[in-house]
Amino acid sequence: MRLLITGGAGFIGSNFIHHIIKVREDIEVINFDKLTYAGNLNNLESLKVNTRYTFIKGDIAEPKDVEDVFNKYEIDGVINFAAESHVDRSILGPLEFVRTNIMGTATLLDVARKYFGDDAEKRFHHISTDEVFGALGDSGSFKESTPYDPSSPYSASKAGSDHLVRAYGRTFDMNVVITNCSNNYGPYQFPEKLIPLVIKRIVDEKEIPVYGKGENVRDWLYVEDHCKAIEKVFFKGKNGQTYNVGGNSEKKNIDIVNLLCDLVDKRLSRDISSRKLITFVKDRPGHDFRYAIDNSKIKKELGWEPEVNFDEGMKKTVEWYLENGKWVDDIISGDYRKFFSKQYKERLKSDRS
Ligand code: NAD
Ligand code: TYD
Repeated sequence: MRLLITGGAGFIGSNFIHHIIKVREDIEVINFDKLTYAGNLNNLESLKVNTRYTFIKGDIAEPKDVEDVFNKYEIDGVINFAAESHVDRSILGPLEFVRTNIMGTATLLDVARKYFGDDAEKRFHHISTDEVFGALGDSGSFKESTPYDPSSPYSASKAGSDHLVRAYGRTFDMNVVITNCSNNYGPYQFPEKLIPLVIKRIVDEKEIPVYGKGENVRDWLYVEDHCKAIEKVFFKGKNGQTYNVGGNSEKKNIDIVNLLCDLVDKRLSRDISSRKLITFVKDRPGHDFRYAIDNSKIKKELGWEPEVNFDEGMKKTVEWYLENGKWVDDIISGDYRKFFSKQYKERLKSDRS
């Protein structure tokens, strides 16, 4: 079976490729990725010589790029990870999010529809986020039936892409599934996202920017657990269905930052607490207060639940980033520095980076 994995050079996509190549010997992967600032082939270095893995550089929003790959390879299924994924960047420049997340998903669907024809076995699996549901207050959780209410250009563009996937399923009888997952963490996450960013700032002994009062809550899932959920849904999920995927692990941002300070300090045998680096900065506009996923559907129907508990996952993650300082330093180059200084110029007045 040959899978077209889009966005496979990013954080979750590369973890998924490692996972699926390892657990399914019958699977061949074509990784189709534009290699934006977030795409990094170093994540897949060990697969370079694997005959079941091929990389193709291409843009999901360019019909010709997508046609070329479908022309060249017989594709048995698509898993669409490709996206612009960072909320703060979507505030600085929304249009690239509309282009990739909406036009890109539509282009991919349209080409897949043509090549899949009426073969009901050929599945299009779209990877989405819980952020499409908007913000929760102190209680409650997102179910698959929760109405969409996105707050950021990122989540609005992901919501648009989800609607298109469902519409192609209903209108053209395509075999589609969608997974809406909570915040992931683990190896290969680009250090603009909270957890790797904070680890890097602690290591460098620089201010740690916490938005608002740090009271916002996210439901964290170790990336390997997400990969296992995607595998279950791709192979066993029901046509046309949506599955919510979450970690049952709600944490306030400030608690995560404190924990990371303590874990890194312990590992580096530091005497002075890095908590002194915490700097409360201007809040993110439209900042969703709380996300939480109700996992009961995927648990009941497909027998999936998270296996890695939060404390264990955080220890593994800290260890990975400390051991892979070079991986981080290699990507903290031109584009990242530009983004970081634009993003934090106002927020961190005394920033020295
Ligand atoms: P990422 O930013 O780390 O990786 C995105 C990848 O997509 C990169 O390799 C990039 O080069 C590629 N890409 C971007 N635009 C492209 C285009 N036009 N054509 C082809 N490739 C393109 O993102 P991630 O965190 O790995 O997220 C993957 C998917 O999972 C996204 O769809 C995201 O919305 C979703 N998601 C992420 C999280 C999370 O916590 N990171 C949670 C839920 C859902
Ligand atoms: P992020 O990793 O950007 O994921 P998302 O916005 O998709 O949930 O942010 C996670 C939480 O951490 C979010 O509430 C915003 C907050 N945050 C900070 O407080 N400081 C930071 O420097 C970043 C990047 C995020």
